[in-house]
Amino acid sequence: MRMNSSAVELEEIAPALEPAQVERDAFAEEVRRGLGRARKELPCKFFYDAQGSRLFDRICDLDEYYLTRTETSILLRYSGEMADALGPRCTLIEYGSGSSLKTRILLDRAHDLAAYVPIDISGAHLQTAARQLRLEYPGLAVLPVCADYTRPFDLPGRCAAGRRCVFFPGSTIGNFDPEAAREFLRSIRAHCGSDGALLIGVDLKKDPDLLHAAYNDREGVTAQFNLNLLARINRELDGGFNLSQFAHYAFYHPVRGRIEMHLISLREQDAWAAGGRFHFREGEAIFTESSYKYTPGEFENLAADSGYRVERRWTDPRRWFSLQLLRVI
Ligand SMILES: C[S@@+](CC[C@H](N)C(=O)[O-])C[C@H]1O[C@@H](n2cnc3c(N)ncnc32)[C@H](O)[C@@H]1O
Repeated sequence: MRMNSSAVELEEIAPALEPAQVERDAFAEEVRRGLGRARKELPCKFFYDAQGSRLFDRICDLDEYYLTRTETSILLRYSGEMADALGPRCTLIEYGSGSSLKTRILLDRAHDLAAYVPIDISGAHLQTAARQLRLEYPGLAVLPVCADYTRPFDLPGRCAAGRRCVFFPGSTIGNFDPEAAREFLRSIRAHCGSDGALLIGVDLKKDPDLLHAAYNDREGVTAQFNLNLLARINRELDGGFNLSQFAHYAFYHPVRGRIEMHLISLREQDAWAAGGRFHFREGEAIFTESSYKYTPGEFENLAADSGYRVERRWTDPRRWFSLQLLRVI
């Protein structure tokens, strides 16, 4: 099956120089564009180099980061029902699979999966995760694809036949603004197929203090994760950012219904990267990530606008998080 130039089917295509160069150029271009804006911003997908992926795994273990724990508890309780809804011989395709830790709960209950296709932008981390999965699930076809899922890419040829389910946990859908989320969900429909499904993790609106704590942990791991974006620019794009002169800043915006994450310049300064020089005023922000929170009704409307109906919704007793099974309409 044809592979898009930016997607690499790991271990089926030898590691090539060309995609890495394409990725570096795209990263440089987006950094120049984002930092050249009047309101500076950087796309959150660039958080995830190998170091960013490791830091994200540490975030998942933090006391304050209820998301992973709560989603895991829902999976542990209802994965049998989820597996029944997927049916036998289904291909499970995971967007933004990271370490595939929660996925194992589903893999353990699924009925004779045809294949598991983890997709992630963080190539080295994905490769390590896939190797580990092959050891733990020797009977399972694990077909990792390194791709940016916001751009067109093809699935491995073996996925063409049979029923498919896209798994998109972690409330990563919250990183998209609502219009972009609609567009993204519409684009996933092709990978679900007409008789397939989308099993998606959605974080729910709750006490702003809990949200605030989740993105401002006491150990400062989320701050390291945010600042790693500048460290990555320094490493990969000949950047000159003084990390000690930027600070992590995250808060819940109740009207927009989202956590906003920023990096704040602690003084007037210049920084450079990817051949450009960027001026920062004291207190000026780089917007790095949104994490939208939804009510069940708001997400149902978003799903309907994107061509899905919500067939099942599983939540925890406190209704902090949800896993939702969407069918293509
Ligand atoms: C919030 S983490 C969630 C990880 C894991 N699914 C979980 O639920 O714990 C987001 C994951 O999506 C990946 N990711 C982010 N943006 C991406 C993109 N544009 N294309 C592919 N993967 C992306 C990251 O590398 C990371 O592994």
